[in-house]
Order: sequence, then C-alpha cells, then structure tokens
Amino acid sequence: MTWVNLFGSKWRLVLSALFICIIISELACCHKDAQEERKSSGKKVKPEKPKQAKAIKKGHRAVKTKPKVKAPTQTQNLLTQVINRLKFIKVEETISVHAGHTLELRCRGKPVQWGLPSYLEEEDEGRLRIVQHERYSVLTLVNSTGADTGEYTCFPMFCEDTDCRRSHDNAAKVFVFFPDPQELFVPSSDYYEVIQLRTNWPTRLPCQVTSPAANVTLHREFPPVEVTVDGTEISFNVKKGFTIHRPRPSHAGALYCVASLGGLRQSSTKYMLIYVNYPMAPPAPVIQANSTSLAAGDNLRVSCTVIGERNVAVELTWEYPGQKIGRPLYTLESINPVGGGAARQQIQSILLVDEVRDVDQGAYTCTAENLQGSKSVSTTVKVLPKTKPSKP
Ligand SMILES: *[C@@H]1O[C@H](CO)[C@@H](O)[C@H](O)[C@H]1NC(C)=O
Ligand SMILES: *[C@@H]1O[C@H](CO)[C@@H](O)[C@H](O)[C@H]1NC(C)=O
Ligand SMILES: *[C@@H]1O[C@H](CO)[C@@H](O)[C@H](O)[C@H]1NC(C)=O
Repeated sequence: MTWVNLFGSKWRLVLSALFICIIISELACCHKDAQEERKSSGKKVKPEKPKQAKAIKKGHRAVKTKPKVKAPTQTQNLLTQVINRLKFIKVEETISVHAGHTLELRCRGKPVQWGLPSYLEEEDEGRLRIVQHERYSVLTLVNSTGADTGEYTCFPMFCEDTDCRRSHDNAAKVFVFFPDPQELFVPSSDYYEVIQLRTNWPTRLPCQVTSPAANVTLHREFPPVEVTVDGTEISFNVKKGFTIHRPRPSHAGALYCVASLGGLRQSSTKYMLIYVNYPMAPPAPVIQANSTSLAAGDNLRVSCTVIGERNVAVELTWEYPGQKIGRPLYTLESINPVGGGAARQQIQSILLVDEVRDVDQGAYTCTAENLQGSKSVSTTVKVLPKTKPSKP
C-alpha cells in the first residue's frame, strides 16, 4: 500500500500535486517526537457541532420579537462569571481559570443554549453541568484541565410556542483559558496534523495555548529556524494561533510552535503544511469522438480535454462500452501549457479503440475531477455493419 492510498480521492489529488517525499521523510520523525512530547488527553477532537441544550423547555409563551437595536456591548452583559458561588463579575473578552478549578458561567435568558469548545462537546465524565433556572442558565465545569480552553458562547433562544431558534446576533462569548502548570498547549490526540495551504486562502495553525501569558513562537523543522512572524504575512493571535495570510509554496513543510512561560518550554503538535494549487472551480471537460458513426473494423479516437489553471491536478477517467467484455483501455495522456500570458494548461486524455466491433457501440463517458469537484461528459458512438470489402 502506498501513502497515497491511505487517503481518499481528494487526498490523492492533493498528494499527487506535491510534496509526497516531504511527508514520507518526516512522518517517521514526527511520530516519534510527538509521542515523546504529547501527554495526550486521549480525547478525540471532533469538529464543533451545536450542542442540544438539555435545559430547553418547550416554550410556553411567545417572546415578543423586539427590533434588534441593541449595541453589541449590551449583549456581553448577558454573561457573568460566578466566583466561589458568591461573587459575580462581568466577563471580559477573555478570562483565565486555573486548571483544576471550577468554571461557573451564568447567562441571562430563558432558555439559552451553550456553545462549547469541541473537546467538551464529548464530555462524559460528569464534569460539565448546565442548569436552566427561571431567568438564567448556569454552566458549571469542575476539575477543569488545559484542554477545556476555548470559546464559550451563550445563545439566547427565541421561542414561538414550541419552536425555539438560536439567536446568533445576540450571542455572548467569552474565551476561557485554563492555565495548566504542566501543559502549555491544549493537548491534541493527533501526533501531527496535515494542513493544506491553498492558494489565496488564509491558513491557520491553531497551536492553542492554555495560558494567555505564554510566549509563542513558530518554528520550521528543516532547516531548523524560527519563522518570522511580522504580523502581515504571518500573524499571531492568542485565541486563534498563527495565520498565514497568503500561502505560497515556500511556506510548505513541517512547522511547530514553541510556548514558553516561566521556566517551562514546550513544543506543540507538528503541522505538515502541504501547498496545493487550489482550483477556482470544478473542471469543465469537453469530449469529442473523431467519428460518431463508423463501420466495424474502423479505428475510433475519443478525446477528453480540460483547460484549467496551471499546476492544478486533474484526474481524467473513462467509462466505455467495451469495458463490459474486458476490452483493455488504450489512452494517451498529455499536459500542455496553453498560449498567452495566463497561467493555464490543457490536460487531455485520448481513448483509442482499434477495429471497433458491435460491442463498442454506445456511450463514451469521461469524468474529470479536481479538488473542487468533478464533472462527466458523454458522447454516443454508433457502429455500422462492415462495409462490403471491395474485392480487388
Ligand atoms: C473532581 O475531582 C475530585 C478529586 O480528584 C474527585 O473526587 C471528583 O469525583 C471529581 N469530580 C468529577 C465530577 O469528576
Ligand atoms: C518572547 O520571545 C521572544 C522571541 O524569542 C523574546 O524576544 C521575548 O523576550 C520573549 N518574551 C517574554 C516575555 O518571554
Ligand atoms: C479516427 O482516429 C483513428 C485513430 O487515430 C484513425 O485511425 C481514424 O481514421 C480516424 N477516423 C476518422 C473518421 O478520422
């Protein structure tokens, strides 16, 4: 099995595009390093999905919909942090709660839904509790860990009879750090993360720290250098990590973050950046048979042509009538630059059928696929009885 087969067809395209050797040479080392570095929490990180608040009661009364003229600052007033069950403080944009301590957030509204860091969506150890009271909802997270770091959102719900909808406009958010003296980075269950660097598409390396006070730098593995973070080309945000704003092929490779705080210095998960010339649109193949009606014994030539951006991988595949009886496929593939200043290329596959027979009659279909999608085109070929050989 090759590396390429480990991934789906999208990845086949991505990998065939570039950098297969980088990956192979680096996987071995990353795996080892990562095992040493990571004290993985064992939690699998899944994409965030909205949590059904268990606390939603079927609304009894329709809430009068007021025109939304609220200033965003007022929205934030919905959220308060409760300290030691006594002290209520308005939350700022970010708060810090020492790992191991309890986070208690209170949000005004009836009912409300909570949006949580993806790690917590799967919380099943009973550390998280959400209780809806008459006028507010209380979220309590006990025995917190650095992995709980992330954005906590309270969505007030608008209900009409039994139909409740989240209000995204009025959501109140707070980013909570759980500084952990042992873990400067939010643990990840993955040894490394493969990230596509797409043309004209900002790329993010999360390397989420558990403490806002950590000093975070970005490093390249080969050659081992610290990457310059100038705030324009590459910027850092303690809540979002590093962003590469305009990815270029030179950004590709193995990168990782280093956080230091006090006497502690730790490395993050490794990020394998693969540069992909990302197509603007799915391919638009054109199919053409050099004859749509030919006599048995003649030769057939069907071409499938795609014009697209240069260096963007396109895969062309065929379906043809002779497949059923195991007629082998003879194709000629070519890639040629298209004239003019624009960086475009023509990718062509030519299917050749020698001495056609009845079984070769039917639809010839060419499917072109790139990272944005695929498109199939067909043409029908008719095979006529052999013309009487003219006896000499
Ligand atoms: C929190 O930690 C304490 C002490 O380790 C333990 O006794 C308790 O069961 C934990 N609570 C939850 C809900 O995990
Ligand atoms: C953070 O790291 C940079 C680069 O290594 C260094 O110059 C700076 O002094 C560090 N700041 C702190 C507060 O450690
Ligand atoms: C179609 O192409 C084949 C293979 O190149 C050739 O042998 C055949 O004569 C062509 N037919 C026509 C009608 O041009």
